[in-house]
Amino acid sequence: MRSTGLLAAYSLVSGGWAASCWRETTCTGPLEPAFPGDWDAYNYAPESRSVKPKTVLSSDLLSSTTYDGSVILSADTPQVVLDFAQEVGGIITFNYASNSAAAIGLAWTEAKNWIGSDSDYSNGGSTPDGHLTLNITGPGSGSYEVPLEKLRGGFRYFTISYSSSAGAIVNVSDVVLEIGFQPTWSNLRAYQGYFHSSDDMLNKIWYAGAYTLQTNTVPINTGRAIPMVKNSWANNGTLGNGSTIIVDGAKRDRAVWPGDMGIAVPSTFYSVGGLDSVANALQVMYDYQNKDGSLPEAGPPLLQQGSDTYHMWTLIGTYNYVMYENDTNFLTLNWVRHQKAIEYIYGKVDETSGLLVVTGTRDWARLGQGFNNSEANVILFRTLTTSSYLAILMGDNALSATYQDRATALSVAINTHLWDSSYGAFRDNATNTTLYPQDANSLAVLFNLTSVEQDQSISARLVENWNAIGAVSPELPGQISPFISSFEIQSHFLAGNATRALDLIRRSWGWYLNHPNGTESTVIEGYLENGSFAYRFDRGYSDPSYTSHAHGWSSGPTSALTNYVVGLTVTGPAGQTWSFAPQFGDIQSAEGGFTTSLGKFRAAWAIGDARKSYGVNITTPEGTVGSVLLPRLVGSEKAKITINGKAEVYTTSMVGKLPGFATTIRGGAHSVLVQEIPI
Ligand SMILES: *[C@@H]1O[C@H](CO)[C@@H](O)[C@H](O)[C@H]1NC(C)=O
Ligand SMILES: *[C@@H]1O[C@H](CO)[C@@H](O)[C@H](O)[C@H]1NC(C)=O
Ligand SMILES: *[C@@H]1O[C@H](CO)[C@@H](O)[C@H](O)[C@H]1NC(C)=O
Ligand SMILES: *[C@@H]1O[C@H](CO)[C@@H](O)[C@H](O)[C@H]1NC(C)=O
Ligand SMILES: *[C@@H]1O[C@H](CO)[C@@H](O)[C@H](O)[C@H]1NC(C)=O
Ligand SMILES: *[C@@H]1O[C@H](CO)[C@@H](O)[C@H](O)[C@H]1NC(C)=O
Ligand SMILES: *[C@@H]1O[C@H](CO)[C@@H](O)[C@H](O)[C@H]1NC(C)=O
Ligand SMILES: *[C@@H]1O[C@H](CO)[C@@H](O)[C@H](O)[C@H]1NC(C)=O
Ligand SMILES: *[C@@H]1O[C@H](CO)[C@@H](O)[C@H](O)[C@H]1NC(C)=O
Ligand SMILES: *[C@@H]1O[C@H](CO)[C@@H](O)[C@H](O)[C@H]1NC(C)=O
Ligand SMILES: *[C@@H]1O[C@H](CO)[C@@H](O)[C@H](O)[C@H]1NC(C)=O
Ligand SMILES: *[C@@H]1O[C@H](CO)[C@@H](O)[C@H](O)[C@H]1NC(C)=O
Repeated sequence: MRSTGLLAAYSLVSGGWAASCWRETTCTGPLEPAFPGDWDAYNYAPESRSVKPKTVLSSDLLSSTTYDGSVILSADTPQVVLDFAQEVGGIITFNYASNSAAAIGLAWTEAKNWIGSDSDYSNGGSTPDGHLTLNITGPGSGSYEVPLEKLRGGFRYFTISYSSSAGAIVNVSDVVLEIGFQPTWSNLRAYQGYFHSSDDMLNKIWYAGAYTLQTNTVPINTGRAIPMVKNSWANNGTLGNGSTIIVDGAKRDRAVWPGDMGIAVPSTFYSVGGLDSVANALQVMYDYQNKDGSLPEAGPPLLQQGSDTYHMWTLIGTYNYVMYENDTNFLTLNWVRHQKAIEYIYGKVDETSGLLVVTGTRDWARLGQGFNNSEANVILFRTLTTSSYLAILMGDNALSATYQDRATALSVAINTHLWDSSYGAFRDNATNTTLYPQDANSLAVLFNLTSVEQDQSISARLVENWNAIGAVSPELPGQISPFISSFEIQSHFLAGNATRALDLIRRSWGWYLNHPNGTESTVIEGYLENGSFAYRFDRGYSDPSYTSHAHGWSSGPTSALTNYVVGLTVTGPAGQTWSFAPQFGDIQSAEGGFTTSLGKFRAAWAIGDARKSYGVNITTPEGTVGSVLLPRLVGSEKAKITINGKAEVYTTSMVGKLPGFATTIRGGAHSVLVQEIPI
């Protein structure tokens, strides 16, 4: 019985549950946060792997009382709802005592809307998950532990109801959840990055993204079972090798999805840190490469096939991972497979038009995919440019040049056939369709296929899709995708409009985090334009409760706030080179940091009185080099800039696509004061 293990972890010294990793898993995670500080108050991760419910809801679900360690089911109280007050996931244990035979049902849900005697949907079939039943055979007491395969990966509410024999008096006590996620970490709060700003909601959003990614980092043998079970659920699938792996969502699908990793991996790196789960996820995709060179759309046991875009996301994910970790052994191990995957996808480029013709039409959820779709072409461009970079790391300059030449030619084809200059955005494909998709347009800016003028135009056009609670996606009508919006916010920052990016972050992610029926601690997979939690219901999802409320693909603000607001980004392996280019938007101060094998990277800025000057502190590992673009506060051409006490007058220049005062800073600690010289 597992309870023995739990007892063994109980520490009399501290008077609480001692830090521990998941079950038999070896602890390899960090022991302490890299940047301890006041911002730890925003961190949603529990102090311990063993957590108790916080409150008991009233029967009308409108109020609550503190959970005091036991609840009573009786004829008067046939159902009790325990609230953990935030997203959690794992295995629940409890004790019970009853005055007669009874059967009680156990159910879990993320959103408050779906509280009831049955769980929210997660099994992947079209049948309800239902509930687990505990049969109490007669008067007496005992203890119960949820069987491992019935692990509930993501929930906030735990509901106990009579399933029959109502009338017995059953005392359910000592409900404890053993957290299943982030299995190799003994201290779930030991983040290797941090963020803090003068804006409380942005702070919460950054930490909600980070915590979501932790809930998506799961023990290797707790994936959703395939074939999908009916009228219940099973999370006993093996997802890969190793002991920890990153999946798409806490509750579901609990599978490796490389497209999701396009957002989840940067956000993990810049917040929680520790990318062994990412390495295991990418490795399993290569391990299951098909003979023709194609990579699966999803990892085992699901192993869905037939997605050209997700095929490419594995290749882009490889670049991200190698850039952050400098894991050249991983690259060497998979390099032949990587090249084969490039040839597979490049073989679909039409020689006449120079555009990719998509035949693997599965994708993130957009309604249409196929032919010369612009999103897929933009992703191919990124695949080629990043693979060109990887080829240099592998010492193959000729191959690097080949990939770069292909990228350059593709860039010309995309801008020739897909750009609508009269409208000022990319069309969904090279027909005269008037659908200007959120995904391709956001990604084209993000992947640098565009001029400054195109960036401005796309950024302005994207705003036309917004309603009060987010960006409604033209390619998935009626729905708001915080996944695609995670790319969109980056495109607004890259267009130099931080105010616009922050506006969308607040209206979409802020809306969800404030929603009384949500988890108040994570980022949601998607929702309808009217604000109901029914993403893709009627478009493939069997029930509105199927939506995942902890989906890493929606964690884009986490990396974006670090990269564009704090301003720090890794540009060379492990941060050997980096850039610092903050954007202020409407905020007064921000700071943040992250960790690589070279050490800690950290920056802080604060705007001075009357917005006439600002100060910056920046500390990076010795031996690294950063390109720095200090933004203009009021738009002057000149500024007096004092770096480590030494003052100099700087003149504005364009660096990349944005204006500012440019310089280079080497590793070490630096303080900077920027005072603009009025025109
Ligand atoms: C929350 O859910 C309840 C129950 O379904 C519903 O009555 C209420 O309107 C919802 N609240 C919001 C803000 O959507
Ligand atoms: C509980 O009892 C019911 C009715 O006797 C039976 O169908 C069910 O299989 C039992 N469940 C468990 C978990 O033992
Ligand atoms: C329920 O059980 C717990 C644990 O044994 C005990 O502390 C509590 O007093 C019991 N409640 C009632 C109403 O008997
Ligand atoms: C997972 O659990 C389901 C349902 O109990 C069972 O049918 C299946 O064989 C299990 N799969 C594995 C891999 O253990
Ligand atoms: C584990 O790794 C081996 C060897 O690399 C590979 O053949 C196997 O497919 C992997 N297993 C899983 C479940 O990924
Ligand atoms: C082009 O895109 C539009 C909008 O998504 C779609 O309706 C149409 O079917 C696509 N055409 C082709 C040939 O793929
Ligand atoms: C794009 O695909 C459509 C549908 O196959 C085709 O009609 C059109 O000619 C293609 N355009 C280019 C530039 O290849
Ligand atoms: C272009 O769009 C118009 C409608 O806006 C349609 O009537 C026409 O057939 C389309 N032309 C082509 C070549 O697809
Ligand atoms: C973007 O592309 C242009 C060429 O089109 C290149 O000069 C520039 O360096 C690129 N910027 C980045 C950040 O890669
Ligand atoms: C930035 O975005 C805001 C809000 O959409 C807009 O009002 C403003 O004009 C934009 N600024 C620039 C320079 O484009
Ligand atoms: C990256 O890895 C390579 C090969 O192991 C090594 O030579 C290089 O020094 C590493 N770079 C950094 C910045 O750690
Ligand atoms: C920079 O560091 C100094 C010394 O610790 C501190 O006084 C100042 O407030 C810091 N500035 C910012 C913007 O954090």
